[in-house]
Amino acid sequence: MSEAEAQPRVPKHLEIAARAAGIAIEAGALVRGYFERGVATEYKGDVDLVTEADRASEKLITERLSAAFPNHGIYGEEGVRQRIDSEYRWYVDPLDGTTNFAHGFPVFCVSLGLEHRPAGLAADDDGELIAGIVYDPTRDELFVAEKGQGAWLNGRRVHVSGTRLLAEALLATGFPSRKRHANPNIHFYQEFTLRSHGVRRAGSAALDLAYTACGRFDAFWEFNLNPWDTAAGALLVREAGGTITRFDGQPFRLDSREILGTNGLLLDELTAQFADMFAGRDLRPIPTPAEFAAARARRSS
Ligand code: IPD
Ligand code: CA
Ligand code: CA
Repeated sequence: MSEAEAQPRVPKHLEIAARAAGIAIEAGALVRGYFERGVATEYKGDVDLVTEADRASEKLITERLSAAFPNHGIYGEEGVRQRIDSEYRWYVDPLDGTTNFAHGFPVFCVSLGLEHRPAGLAADDDGELIAGIVYDPTRDELFVAEKGQGAWLNGRRVHVSGTRLLAEALLATGFPSRKRHANPNIHFYQEFTLRSHGVRRAGSAALDLAYTACGRFDAFWEFNLNPWDTAAGALLVREAGGTITRFDGQPFRLDSREILGTNGLLLDELTAQFADMFAGRDLRPIPTPAEFAAARARRSS
């Protein structure tokens, strides 16, 4: 897929996004080819999977980005670290949703986020996210955003949802594939499930954020994500009129290790809920399996 072929789906004035979208679509087609043929899975650790498709996609993206933007840096999940002291830095997730991909579950994407890091910025300070592309090759959905230019899905401007109440919201989250036993998210999953229309756990953080941007989800949260998971999606949500923060509403950073994306209308209710839960307040208990089994046995005796 050339830049010209990506064009009809990216407004002309989004020049960086248009060029990068062609690259994301090409990488997505490569990944889709592996998906159709089937590929062996390896373990990076615990249940953290990787495949030839992840590596081939990162290689292709690195070559194409280097050719299109020779002065830009690249920071990729599968290990590429190129010119990372540059003023512009791409965060590359060559295949977000590898577990889905490896199991034949068709929910995964390619994610490219661009950060502008002006001269003089301290190494551990965030610059500004200025472009984001998330491409879903199984649905052929291309999400793009540029700073100040809105968020777009296949050439159509998108906005966050208008849902005002958590009780009427559809939410999304995800779970880490490393140090799973050190993560409390299942408690948040339970509590938010009981207080909303439901919580989807589809397995691709970049797509979860893209779906929040276009109103399919009203909010998304997750612990322990990396900049390649969040950079593109965070800009999409902001440019679609939503908020990206930490769980307490404080500013998000690319290395925050926690992210809350909302439609803006739900931000206060969600941050209040997070505060209550971290303080152990106002939880809605459900029966343990043993309590449930005992009650079931009593009923049937
Ligand atoms: C994963 C996905 C998943 C999220 C995990 C990520 P990967 O990325 O985004 O939704 O829950 O935390 O690691 O490994 O498939 O690129
Ligand atoms: Ca990822
Ligand atoms: Ca990945």
